[in-house]
Amino acid sequence: MDQFLTVAQDAAYQAGALLRDNWLKPKTIEVKTDIVDLVTNVDKAADALITGILHTQFPTHRIIAEESAVSGPESPYRWYIDPLDGTTNFAHGFPHFAVSIALVHESQRLVGVVYDPLREEIFCASRGHGATLNGSPVHVSPAATLEQGLVLTGFPYDRRKRSEFYLRFYQAFMVRTQGIRRSGSAALDLCYVACGRADAFWEWRLHPWDTAAGALIVEEAGGEMSNFSAGLFDISGDQTLASNGVLHGQMLKVLQEVMTTDPDEK
Ligand code: IPD
Ligand code: CA
Ligand code: CA
Repeated sequence: MDQFLTVAQDAAYQAGALLRDNWLKPKTIEVKTDIVDLVTNVDKAADALITGILHTQFPTHRIIAEESAVSGPESPYRWYIDPLDGTTNFAHGFPHFAVSIALVHESQRLVGVVYDPLREEIFCASRGHGATLNGSPVHVSPAATLEQGLVLTGFPYDRRKRSEFYLRFYQAFMVRTQGIRRSGSAALDLCYVACGRADAFWEWRLHPWDTAAGALIVEEAGGEMSNFSAGLFDISGDQTLASNGVLHGQMLKVLQEVMTTDPDEK
């Protein structure tokens, strides 16, 4: 496990340095599935760098990276890589983005690393060994009520087609919490819940590379992950709820209330 974590950290540091060196330089920006779904030349370069390191170190493992095809042989060991989580921020020169790398064995998350290269903050977890920020243990917040809570969210890339649906959730939390933040990096949102900078996070339709590392970091920091019906959190599912644990039931109640006002829409 130590070797997995060490390699993941090293890859995150190298890719993070690439992001840091390029975030204020001119970039080539392309549109992917929708005009709000972007990819830059730096996303692709960081992707190639990380996948290259992992292939060399673990040639028998499967690699699923956002900007490249699935690679490596069939294997119970699968790496999930987001070389640049927060591409829209990055493309605009907004200083909030990260590298996210996770290793999953069968369906168990083993290792998670999220690196914010501008703040030089590395969040790490390995199953059963807690979560750390720059080597020091982190823990979720003690917030006991939603009214005392700062919650985080994001909007998926189909948001222009389904804005009313997503805004119903936003409105419900807006009137029940101390504040909502939309940072533009789901991987960092999860880490911020893990280290107590925020108390909960919800988002629809994230991808496994967005959440695999952050979910383990939340769990290892004493927090809770689930879908919006209190079911097991699945990195391939379309519902991500993270909390400090204490607020989990209150978050679920609000999500359920909003979903039952529109049971057919999803
Ligand atoms: C996005 C970010 C954002 C979230 C989007 C993700 P990307 O990832 O995590 O916070 O709201 O749903 O797709 O495209 O910047 O890697
Ligand atoms: Ca992402
Ligand atoms: Ca990305």
